[in-house]
Amino acid sequence: MTGKILVTGAVGNVGAEVIKQLGSMGQLSEGSVIRAADLDVSKIREKFGDLVEAVTFDFAKKETYAAAFAGVETMFLLRPPQISDVKGIILPALDAAQAAGVRHVVFLSLLGIERATYVPHYKIEEYLVKSPMSWTFLRCSFFMQNLNSTHRQEIRERDELFVPVGRARTSSIDVRDIAAVAAIALSQPGHANKAYDLTGAEALEYGQVARILSETMGRKISYRNPSLSRFFLTHLWRGVPFFFALVMAGLYLSTRNGLAELVTDEVERITGRKPILFQEYAADYAASWAK
Ligand SMILES: NC(=O)c1ccc[n+]([C@@H]2O[C@H](COP(=O)([O-])OP(=O)(O)OC[C@H]3O[C@@H](n4cnc5c(N)ncnc54)[C@H](OP(=O)(O)O)[C@@H]3O)[C@@H](O)[C@H]2O)c1
Repeated sequence: MTGKILVTGAVGNVGAEVIKQLGSMGQLSEGSVIRAADLDVSKIREKFGDLVEAVTFDFAKKETYAAAFAGVETMFLLRPPQISDVKGIILPALDAAQAAGVRHVVFLSLLGIERATYVPHYKIEEYLVKSPMSWTFLRCSFFMQNLNSTHRQEIRERDELFVPVGRARTSSIDVRDIAAVAAIALSQPGHANKAYDLTGAEALEYGQVARILSETMGRKISYRNPSLSRFFLTHLWRGVPFFFALVMAGLYLSTRNGLAELVTDEVERITGRKPILFQEYAADYAASWAK
C-alpha cells in the first residue's frame, strides 16, 4: 500500500509505538507518509520531529477533521479513553474520514468485545463492519504497560500491586507487539476485514506478576487482592474520576470471571516472532518503578 497513513492518539501508549514501528521496521513503501494526529501538535513534533507530518486533531472538533483526513488512505483508529460518546463524537469523525477518501481503518479494540455490547468499542466495530471502508480489528488483552501507567504509583511508592482479581489469570500483551501488528495491517495487504485476538504468550496470575517484578527490581512487590468495592472506593479516594474507576472495576470483574485468560498465537502468526514475555517487559521498564 502507498499513500498517507494517519495515526490517531499519536503520542499515547499505542499510537506512539505504531509510529515508531512504521518508521523503523521498513514497513513503508517508498513514497508513503505517516501523518500523526493528536490534541497537542507540539508533543508530536517533540517526539517524532521530521519522521511524521504532525496535525492537530480532536475527535470532538469537526473543524480539525479536514486537515487530518485529506489524502489519507489508511488510518489507525484509537478511541481515547476519555471519550464514551461514540455516536456523538467518534462516528462523525469516521463519516468524515470516509467522505475524505480513507479506505482502510485499523481499529484498536478489546479482547472479548463480541460479548461486551455495552463497551464503546462495540459500537465502533459495528459501524465499521457496515461501512464501505475496510477494517482490521485488533482485539487486545490487557496492556502490560498498564503497570507503568495506571499502576505505576502504587508499585513505585507502596511496593504493591492493587488488583481485585484473586487468582484469575491475564494474558497481558506488550503494546510494542500490538504496534507491530498494527504497522503491518496499516501498510501491507491481506488484513482487510479481519479481526485478530491479540494476547501475550502466556496467562499469568497477579501473584506471579508481583514475583517477577520483585525479582526484576530486587525489592519485594506484594500482590494485594482487594474486594471490588474496596478497589473502586480506594481509586475514588485517590482522585481517579468516577467513570474511570467504574470502567476499571468492570474490566477487573470480567478478569476475575476468567475472561482475560485466553492465549492466542496471532502476534507470532502475523509478525513472525514470539510475543514479548512479561519478564522482558519488566526488565525494559524497570526504571519506571525505581524509588
Ligand atoms: N489499557 C488496556 O489494558 C487496554 C486493553 C485493550 C484495549 N485498550 C484500549 O486502548 C485505548 C487506549 O490506548 P492508549 O493506552 O494508547 O491511550 P492513551 O495513551 O491514553 O492515548 C490516547 C491519546 O489520545 C489523545 N486524546 C485524548 N482525547 C482526544 C480527543 N478528543 N481527540 C483526539 N485525541 C485525543 C490523548 O491526548 P492527551 O493525553 O493529551 O489527553 C492521548 O495522546 C482505549 O480505547 C482502550 O480501551 C486498552
